[in-house]
Amino acid sequence: MKGVILAGGTGSRLYPLTSVTNKHLLPVYNKPMIFYPLELLREAGIKDILVVSGGENISDFLKLLGSGRQYDVNLTYKVQDGSGGIPVALSLAKDFIGDDKFVAILGDNIMDGSIRGYVESFGKSGAGAKILLKKVDDPHRYGLAEVRNGKVVGMQEKPAEPKSDLAICGIYLLDKKAFGIIPKLKPSKRAELEITEVLQHYVDNNDLEYEIFEGFWIDAGTFDALHTASKFMASKKA
Ligand code: G1P
Repeated sequence: MKGVILAGGTGSRLYPLTSVTNKHLLPVYNKPMIFYPLELLREAGIKDILVVSGGENISDFLKLLGSGRQYDVNLTYKVQDGSGGIPVALSLAKDFIGDDKFVAILGDNIMDGSIRGYVESFGKSGAGAKILLKKVDDPHRYGLAEVRNGKVVGMQEKPAEPKSDLAICGIYLLDKKAFGIIPKLKPSKRAELEITEVLQHYVDNNDLEYEIFEGFWIDAGTFDALHTASKFMASKKA
């Protein structure tokens, strides 16, 4: 299986830290943020990895990670022009992925714990998509999955009135059908294509499975979350 790390975006919630660099290059304790998703994929046995980022920063990722050989992975880079949401960035991975199932991870999602078991079970499963969920106290900040009788029955993206407290972690195990769904999406209220809409298509086709992620997970895209992620990683080393 191949991997995709989505490392674009303006990082506006972290301004001015992100005024001259990309969010995914900021430190989380003792490593640049992007090392965490990279190591997570590698640990799961995923070594062919595409990094998608904006043109302003792609050379910085290349300088940091190069071919990937030093990190025991094989890296490819793709430039995203402009924004448009996670599915737009993901669609750039179509040729890289080909016919395989794959794992796409948002570069600011820091997860501690192995995903190997989830990846292996998805590889063997007949389902076209798998998501990892985590119970949260502030559901309005995330994409949410509504689960009934062990099945995901609906999705919401950052709703004012959450129907669930199960956040969808920013890691998506998908098959190539995702690339057929993306061109059909319409922009959301925030004028972006939404990854939850892609997932909703899989739900509608009874083609999505989920598991609860058992480790530490944080979306490090705000000052507080970035600080929490650093503190967590520092405490692990102690
Ligand atoms: C994105 C997704 C959301 C998901 C979150 C996880 O939100 O849209 O569904 O729960 O990542 O980090 P963003 O952080 O890009 O606003």
